[in-house]
Formats: sequence, structure tokens, C-alpha cells
Amino acid sequence: MSSLIVVGAQWGDEGKGKVVDLLTDHANVVIRYAGGHNAGHTIITGSEKYILHLIPSGILHRGKLCCLGNGMVLDPEAFLKELKALDKRGVKIGKRLKVSPDIHIIMPYHKTIDLESEKLRGKRKIGTTGRGIGPAYVDKVARTGIRLADLCDRKVLKDKIEHNLAEKNFIYKNIYKIGTLDGAAVYRRFLKFGRLLEPYVADISKIVDDARKKGQNILFEGAQGTMLDVDHGSYPFVTSSNAIAGGACTGIGMGPTAVDSVLGIIKAYTTRVGEGPFPTELHDDVGEQLRDGGSEYGSTTGRPRRCGWFDTVVARYSNRINGFTGLALTKLDVLDPFSEIKVATGYRYKGKLLKEMPASSEAFSEAVPVYRTVKGWEKSTCEARTFKDLPPRARDYVRLLEDLSECKFQIISTGARRDETILRENPFGKGRGSRRR
Ligand code: IMP
Ligand code: MG
Repeated sequence: MSSLIVVGAQWGDEGKGKVVDLLTDHANVVIRYAGGHNAGHTIITGSEKYILHLIPSGILHRGKLCCLGNGMVLDPEAFLKELKALDKRGVKIGKRLKVSPDIHIIMPYHKTIDLESEKLRGKRKIGTTGRGIGPAYVDKVARTGIRLADLCDRKVLKDKIEHNLAEKNFIYKNIYKIGTLDGAAVYRRFLKFGRLLEPYVADISKIVDDARKKGQNILFEGAQGTMLDVDHGSYPFVTSSNAIAGGACTGIGMGPTAVDSVLGIIKAYTTRVGEGPFPTELHDDVGEQLRDGGSEYGSTTGRPRRCGWFDTVVARYSNRINGFTGLALTKLDVLDPFSEIKVATGYRYKGKLLKEMPASSEAFSEAVPVYRTVKGWEKSTCEARTFKDLPPRARDYVRLLEDLSECKFQIISTGARRDETILRENPFGKGRGSRRR
């Protein structure tokens, strides 16, 4: 029996979808614990390509139980749409999908508030996915949120919608200057969603506990990435949930002792969508080449991703925040054509050399990366199936990143396909692979 958290080590889009898909072979249960349909996980199985936003990637594997934990936020329309799309493509779900009754519901006003407040922020905008994620978490913390259990209780739902709309309609009218919402229509619509979603309701915390008692393997599927975590990311340019490994405990309802291993997913370079600081960002042809080579366009919004070199300050920080037992390096093949590759080893800020993530967001915004430049391998890595198969310079690059990230790379991915993977160690295996000094 073993349980493993898979978490993004950078700003999301590290290729978690592919790695989770591979590891699902070893898992009985797959559970998401944070975020909502702002996520976009791309999975390629044979000639089929799937992009999942809300439902754990494990759903593509027959017989695997998939759960949505209380730490997530759920847009019922997006959920039902994703279910329908999977059904259309022949993915059999049956009783394999469970949702926590405590999951907070994204209401129509959350999406409007998300879009309107971005407009009001002007130059300070966050560049959200516009899905209503942040405002839904705001209501959760404000203790006015509507949970899945509430959709299944007429009286509670009616009362909560009325109470919420009194405030939201005031904001609509007086701040956004837009038409207000009709409470009765919202109530009818969400009551219907409640009826459609009720069959999926289950106690996810208990499912995890039971799975552990049965000696099963559990995979906790993170969304977004460490640098987008609301507490430990590049605040305020973050998402509104705890994307980090620690978020799995609160986002599911289990103690830290229920987790055996934490696998960080890290891309061989860096990308970010949306606004906010990004020290190693490239604004030149090299950045373009990374974007083209890696098809770096948001799988949720289609926005071009900002691209830059690998940042070992971020990698070390991420290792510290998440307590990785191992890392999976993805998209190494994207660097195949480069004759020269840079790696940030530290930052320069106000004349000082920083080796660690600065505590202040101002310093992070102004940090100038200090690079080590290495020669590229200029050969294809896609065919490599063992570490030894990699060109010598690619091996050197991996070793350098491993050394500076202070963590073992258990998996190296050199393509989107399942077989384009070097498995050096099974991440489900016990024991810390971290070489933290
Ligand atoms: P929100 O999550 O829609 O509120 O967006 C907040 C920030 O997180 C924006 O910069 C988004 O681009 C970013 N973001 C949210 N979800 C993802 C994701 O799954 N991958 C990458 N960036 C994301
Ligand atoms: Mg993504």
C-alpha cells in the first residue's frame, strides 16, 4: 500500500496529465484536491488526445475510482459537459466517479465577478482563466458559499441563493452597472444540477481511509503549480487554492501521515500563463522557439504561455515547500534543437546574489537571474528508454538540474506519448529520494 501526491513544481502546465496517466496503472484510487476547471490536463493515449479540466485523469483507465475532494470548486455545468464528452468518446464511468458533498459550487455570479473584477483591476489584473474560481473561494472563506450538499436541499438552497443574491445584485447594479440576476431562475437551475449530481456524492475522506485499510494505492492529483499556490506562490498573481502537496490534506480530509511520497512535476524549461513575475522569462526568438517546440498554449484558455529557462531557485523552493521524494522532468525533448541552454542558478537583487527564493514579492519581481550556460546536445531524445540512451550532454543537463534542484529525477519524459518515458525509479516506492542538504 502506498499513497502519492503528484504536484506541479512551477507555474502549472508541467505535464502532470501525462505523468498521472502513467502512474494510474499503479493506483486504485485517483483524487483531485484543489482548483476547478481552471486546470487543463492533456493526456495522449494511443492516437487519442483528451483534455480534462475537472475530472481526474484516472477516469480514462477502466476500473479506477476517481474522486473530487472538498478542496476543489465545482462548476456543475462544466462537470456535466465533461462527463458528456467522455461518454461520447466511449469512456465508461458508471460508479467510478465520486464528489465530496463539501465541494463549493461555482455560481453564475462567481464567473461574472471574476471577469468584472479583472476589468476593474486594469493594469493590476491577474490574468485569471475567467472561470469564477477566485470568487468561489472568496465566498467559501467568507462562509457564504454554496456547497454540493446544499444543492440537494431545496430549503437551504433557496435561502442561500436569496441571501447571496441580495449582495451580488447590489454589486452588479452599483459597481459593475450591469443587469441583475433573477433568484428564482438561479434556484431552479441549481436545484436541477443538485438532482443530476446527487448520485456522485460520497465521503471522499472515508474513501481514502478505507482504501488505505484495504492496502490500496492512492494517487492524489494536484492541479496548477506551487508558484500559483495562494499561500506560497507569487502572490497576488496566484490562483485561490492550495495547489501544493499540503493542500491534499485539507482538500480531502486526511492527516499528513496518510501520505507516503510526493512527486513534483517539473518541465525542462519554465512557462507561465497569466500575469505576474517570471525571472527567467525570454522575450526573444529563443522564447518563441520554446513556445513553438513545446506547443505552449494554454489548454484551458488557448492563451500563448510565457516561456523561459529552467529556474533552479524555483525548483529548490518548490522542493522545500512540498517535501518532494522525487521529481519527474518533462519535455526534455523540446530542448533537443538548442545549441546553447541556460539554467538560472540564483538571482541578483539590489547588487546582492540570492541563492534562495526572496521572501518579498517585490524582490521576486525585480530579481535578475544569474545563468549557467551549457552546450546543447542537438540530437533527438524521444527514442531514449533508459537514462543511458540519452545523448551525453542531455545526461549532463539532467544531472546539473538534479544537483541544483537537490532532488532525484525519478522520471524523465521526452515526448507526449506514454512510451516516450524513462522510468528510473517508481515514485510510489517508499523512502525519500530527496538529496536535501
Ligand atoms: P484563476 O485560477 O483562474 O483564478 O487564475 C489565476 C492565475 O492562475 C492566472 O495566472 C491563471 O493563468 C493561472 N492558472 C490557473 N489555473 C492554471 C493551470 O491549470 N495552469 C496554469 N496556470 C493556471
Ligand atoms: Mg494545464
